[in-house]
Amino acid sequence: MSTGSVAIVGGGIIGLAIGWRLAQTAVAVDVFERGEAGHGASFAAAGMLAAGVETEPGEAALCALTKRGQALWPDFAAELDAASGIAVGLRQEGTIEVALTRDDAARLRHSFDFQRRQGVALEWLSAAEARAREPYLGPQLAGAVFSPHDHQVENRRVVQALRAAFLAAGGRLHENAEVGLAVAHGRITGVVRADGALHAADRVVLAAGAWSAAVAGLPASARPAVRPIKGQMLALRMDPGAPLLRHVLWTPRVYLVPRDDGRLLIGATTEERGFDASLTAGGLLSLLEGAWRAMPAIEDLPIAETWVGFRPGSRDDAPLLGPIASGPEGLVLATGHHRNGILLAPITADLIARYLTTGAIDPAMAPFLPDRFAAPVSAT
Ligand code: FAD
Ligand code: GLY
Repeated sequence: MSTGSVAIVGGGIIGLAIGWRLAQTAVAVDVFERGEAGHGASFAAAGMLAAGVETEPGEAALCALTKRGQALWPDFAAELDAASGIAVGLRQEGTIEVALTRDDAARLRHSFDFQRRQGVALEWLSAAEARAREPYLGPQLAGAVFSPHDHQVENRRVVQALRAAFLAAGGRLHENAEVGLAVAHGRITGVVRADGALHAADRVVLAAGAWSAAVAGLPASARPAVRPIKGQMLALRMDPGAPLLRHVLWTPRVYLVPRDDGRLLIGATTEERGFDASLTAGGLLSLLEGAWRAMPAIEDLPIAETWVGFRPGSRDDAPLLGPIASGPEGLVLATGHHRNGILLAPITADLIARYLTTGAIDPAMAPFLPDRFAAPVSAT
């Protein structure tokens, strides 16, 4: 199969990772980003690679993909460090999830049992065992789980590194270049810039994150059911030489992510507010209160930063990967990664690049084809 030229709409972690993999195989690839690459959700994220604790009961299919994606990260990070000269900050302490009350502990046990059935390695900890690992946990503690493979990366550096590696491999990046799709006779012919100029391409990958459904030129039948899920976050400033926390910490309401530079990220709200980018008192209060209940010692830390991002949410919280049977021919989706786009970037890049270069739909990708939402619902 001849790959031909590929244009990618969206310069976030997904578009850049796919672009890098294609450029490495000498495919002619152009990434179009309407702003600065890597400043959408991929900048806003917490960088957790949480195939274990982030899997909710009912998400068995997604867990199979996130686990495979998680296993790729150590090699992906090392390859990206070497190709870009930028250290992407993979930290491998794992994650501790705490229960503060007996009710929390019952809910945690339910998730723990489900996640273990999916093959996730998890260890139940007593309150004393959790406190031995994280001494600043508060007095209210009813049990905990240790997830040894749920690590973290500095996602802002990952996108910088991907940008550099993509360019070094011969990819072309067009920033401040909003584009729509060009379609003729049921086939993709390229992308169109705002001034009407056509950039011809044999295939187009739609990787526009939360904005994917709004890209101009998309036929209605191909418009992905992707919507923005707002997340507010903040960062506190710790002493990097004496951090309050070493593991990623999940509490019943928030998660906390300690960075090497001393920032302690606290996230995140999950809100159906369209593209409303406001930070709200209620949002920040719930983050601070949720974190303070688990770790009261945060109350003396200065606030370093606050921000909002938009997760690309899909109907089943899983990504949409691959072609659409009804066309347009040549269009490939790589969107809807919702809460897991950082975690799933390496596997998404591998699956989509493989499809584009060989035509093969990997069995790991098959459950996530965009057409799954078009299937008739059974009458049971
Ligand atoms: P984006 O990074 O949003 O990139 C899409 C790009 O497309 C944007 O740069 C946009 O400008 C561009 N674009 C849109 N329309 C056009 C157009 N017409 N022409 C050209 N360019 C266009 N995931 C994890 O795995 N772990 C986490 O810990 C985590 N934490 C998160 C915390 C928060 C608060 C949020 C909001 C998300 C979090 N996520 C996390 C989810 C993750 O950030 C996303 O799933 C991922 O970044 C999606 O990447 P993307 O490249 O699809 O989207
Ligand atoms: N994965 C963390 C979040 O989406 O908030």
